[in-house]
Amino acid sequence: MTTSPLQANYPGPSHYDRMTIALHWLTAILVVGLFALAEIWSFLPRGTPTRRLLQSLHISFGLLFTAVFVLRVVWRSTGGRRLPPAATGLMGLASTGVHGLLYLLMAAQIVLGFLFRWAQGEPFAFFGLFDVPRWIAIDREQRHFIGGLHDTVAWTIIALALVHALAALVHHYALHDGVLRRMLRSR
Ligand code: HEM
Ligand code: HEM
Repeated sequence: MTTSPLQANYPGPSHYDRMTIALHWLTAILVVGLFALAEIWSFLPRGTPTRRLLQSLHISFGLLFTAVFVLRVVWRSTGGRRLPPAATGLMGLASTGVHGLLYLLMAAQIVLGFLFRWAQGEPFAFFGLFDVPRWIAIDREQRHFIGGLHDTVAWTIIALALVHALAALVHHYALHDGVLRRMLRSR
């Protein structure tokens, strides 16, 4: 295997660990899936069974995403491998900033998702297995405001994730370094 400029500069491990990689790709699939579900139901008339089904799937997968996100943060701050930024200087700062912002926005989106459901006052079930209790009482009047924020944060996450994914592809296809490979397979 050829030595990439990344590996030449950095003597430590050249890949993330299996768990970090699995959690990263699971997060990516869930974020895109949750967004796609919401965009699809927005084309369906209000109150139809299909729209309701997509909404309840969004809530169940949203709860799964919450668990994956918490696990990811715990793993990152305990056993998970952390690698130095792929680039130095301003580019390194930008990539660390985007990663930090993605974590922050995902955490905010989870909080908003919970508040949104409690404000709606409708069932909050995980695939019909159990209901999430209402920890905080929220005025039903607040649901439009919270929903608007949840929607704005969703679009911001998707836009940032797109920039982030494009950067990873530029690293791979234009710079030919090992940045994308760090997140693809573990050694
Ligand atoms: C919604 C989708 C995505 C989200 C929310 C997301 C989020 C993140 C976050 C927060 C990190 C920082 C990991 C850490 O240091 O703890 C990261 C790293 C990374 N992501 Fe993503 N990601 C997404 C999609 C993608 C896609 C589609 C690609 C590839 C095309 C990708 C490639 C990478 C790579 C290569 C790294 C490691 C960068 C490095 O080592 O400097 N990600 N991602
Ligand atoms: C990154 C993850 C997420 C994304 C991208 C996302 C995206 C969206 C979008 C775009 C909408 C439509 C908003 C509107 O049109 O007003 C929506 C609705 C909603 N989301 Fe999320 N969401 C995410 C996570 C969550 C989580 C974790 C929960 C809670 C467990 C949640 C609960 C809800 C609820 C209750 C609705 C309203 C459903 C209805 O109208 O009945 N979301 N979400």
